[in-house]
Amino acid sequence: MSLTTYDPLDPSTLTDPYPVLATLRRSTPIFWHEGMRSWALTRYDDCVTVLRDHALFARDPRRTGGTVPQPSLSVQTLDPPEQSQVRSLFMNALHAQDLVAVERRAGRVMAACLDEIAGRVEFDVMTEIAAPLAVAVISDLLGVDQPDVHSFAQTSDAIMRSMDASLDPTTAEPGRIARQQLSAMVETWFAASGRPGVLSHVREHVGPLSDADLGQYVRNTARVMFQGGYSTMVAAVGNAVHTLMRYPQVLDQMRDPAVLRTGVDELVRYDGPVQGTSRIATSTTKIGDVTVRAGATVLLLFAAANHDPAQFPEPERLLLDRRQGRHLGYGWGTHACIGAVPAQMALRVLVNVLLQHPMRLRLAGEPLRRRTATMRVFESLPATSHR
Ligand code: HEM
Repeated sequence: MSLTTYDPLDPSTLTDPYPVLATLRRSTPIFWHEGMRSWALTRYDDCVTVLRDHALFARDPRRTGGTVPQPSLSVQTLDPPEQSQVRSLFMNALHAQDLVAVERRAGRVMAACLDEIAGRVEFDVMTEIAAPLAVAVISDLLGVDQPDVHSFAQTSDAIMRSMDASLDPTTAEPGRIARQQLSAMVETWFAASGRPGVLSHVREHVGPLSDADLGQYVRNTARVMFQGGYSTMVAAVGNAVHTLMRYPQVLDQMRDPAVLRTGVDELVRYDGPVQGTSRIATSTTKIGDVTVRAGATVLLLFAAANHDPAQFPEPERLLLDRRQGRHLGYGWGTHACIGAVPAQMALRVLVNVLLQHPMRLRLAGEPLRRRTATMRVFESLPATSHR
C-alpha cells in the first residue's frame, strides 16, 4: 500500500473504511497525508498519547501562530485554561438535567416515528427516525422549542460538510453562512427561552456576561452543542440502525440490560460517526519513530484506532459485551465529548423502542454514504418494516 492511496472520500473507503485503515496501521501506522497536510495516526496508543497531552498538542491554532474567526471560538477550539470555565459551565448544566425525563420523552418520539412508518413499503431511516429523534433529544436537553426538522437538518448538514473544507474548499462558504444562521437562532434562544434545560442553566450560572470574551465563547458553545450534538446523533443513530439491520440477531441480545449498556458503546466503536480529529504540535516532538515539527497538524484517525487489534481483540467482530478497552468514539481528555451520557441514553432509547415495537426493520436497497471524511453518516438508508 502506497502512502498516497488513502483517500477518505474514495467510494469504496466511504462504504467500508476499515480494511484500508487496517492495511495502513500494519504497514505505515504514522504517515504523512499530503492532501490533508497532516501526520495521520492509526494506532490506538498513539492517538491516546496525543489526546492526553494538551500542552504539546494544541486544539487552538492561535497557540502556534494561527488565527480563529471569532464565531468559531468555543469549547471545541479553545484550550485550557481558557476552555476550562466554558467546559465546566456546560458540563454542570448537563449534569443538572433530568435525564430520566428526557429519556422518557425521547422514547415517545421514537415510538411515534415507528408507528408512523409501520406498514410503509419503503422509507429512509435518516429522515424518518434519525433526524426526528436527534432534534427532539437535543432541543429537549437544551430547553428550546424544537426547530423544523427539515430546515434544521439542511443548516446542520452545511456546517457538517464544511468540516472537510481542507479536502473540498467549496464547502467552506455554505458552512460559514449556515453557522451564521444557527448563531442567530441560538441568540434568540438565549434571550428568550424560559424552559428548563442546559441553556437556561448556563444563563443563570454564567453571571451577567460582563466578560465579553466569555459571553461570546458561551454563545458559540451553545451553537456547537446544538449542531455537534445533532449531527453526531443523527449519524450515530443511522450507523447503529444499519448495523442492527445487517445483524438482526443482535437486537434480541440487547434485551439484557447489561448487554444493552455495553452494546450501545460497542455499536459506536464498531461503526462510529466521528472518524477523527486533529491537533497541532506546539513544539517539535517524536511520535513513534516519526519526528513531528512544531506547527505540524496531527490527524487522529479514530476509525483506525477503534479497530486496532492491539487494543480491541477481534476488532472486526461486533461483541456487544465487550468491556476491555475504552474506545475513542467519544474522544478522550480535555476535549472528550460533553454529551456522551445523553448520547448513550438516546442510543439505548433507540434500541429499547426497536425491541418493544412489534415491527422489525429490514434493509430495502443500497444505502448511500455521504461524501464526508470527518463524519461517517448515511445520506440515505432505505428500509422496510415487517412483523
Ligand atoms: C453518539 C453521539 C456522539 C458522538 C459519537 C460524539 C463524539 C464526540 C467526539 C469524538 C468528540 C471529541 C472531538 C475531539 O476530540 O476533537 C466530541 C466532542 C464534543 N461533543 Fe460529542 N458526540 C456525540 C453526541 C454529542 C451530544 C448529544 C452533544 C451535546 C449534547 C455533544 C457535544 C459535544 C461537544 C460540545 C464537544 C466538544 C467538547 C470539547 O471540545 O471540549 N456530543 N463528541
